[in-house]
Amino acid sequence: MPENSNYAVAIDGPAASGKSTVARRLAERLGLIMINTGAMYRAIAWATIQRDIDASDTAAVLAMLDDIEVTCGVNDGTSTILIDGSDPGEALRADDVNSRVSAVAAIPEVRHLLVEKQREYLDLGSLVMEGRDIGSVVFPDTPYKIYIDASEEVRLARRSAEGLTDVVSKRDEEDSKRKTSPLVVAEGATVIDSSEMNIDEVVDAAMETLREQGLNI
Ligand code: DC
Repeated sequence: MPENSNYAVAIDGPAASGKSTVARRLAERLGLIMINTGAMYRAIAWATIQRDIDASDTAAVLAMLDDIEVTCGVNDGTSTILIDGSDPGEALRADDVNSRVSAVAAIPEVRHLLVEKQREYLDLGSLVMEGRDIGSVVFPDTPYKIYIDASEEVRLARRSAEGLTDVVSKRDEEDSKRKTSPLVVAEGATVIDSSEMNIDEVVDAAMETLREQGLNI
């Protein structure tokens, strides 16, 4: 843990498990900064599209990384990311980003760059950070770790209710099989299966879990 008293709540889980909504609600309730790390990997995937780079061509992606400016910040209590000063906005959720992001996220150098930026956020205040490797790699020493799960059927239904056609199972398979920082249940994390729960119930279960993990709330 860092020398200051800021702490991180790690929320990990597969695509469309509800972790973003839960993380946002927890951050609001606890007055913490909410960091969406998926948006950071998505922004790199978006940049490959802007530059017409094959996301599976590691050398080309690395050359691009050397050439772009990735600026992470916070606005209104939530993380922001700019690529060369531009905010990709809603384009981060588009199908072409969905289909490339796992390839980009499997590149160790991409992860190294983004994990450093994720850790730097702790200088700004206490955080709720959501992703795939927050409890296992980014903040392995935090005592506050939750893994939000849901059945594949429920996750697909949630995405399509949002009007999105994200092939979550394919991304999850790629994210779980990659060599560097795969999606895992981190040591010390409590798993909450949200398949049969509404969002209020998941947030309540997460709050209870954090109390059990020793957070004074
Ligand atoms: O949370 P999300 O679906 O927006 O994440 C998009 C992709 O980014 C996901 O398929 C895997 C990758 N990712 C990652 O590898 N590590 C993280 N901490 C967050 C996301």
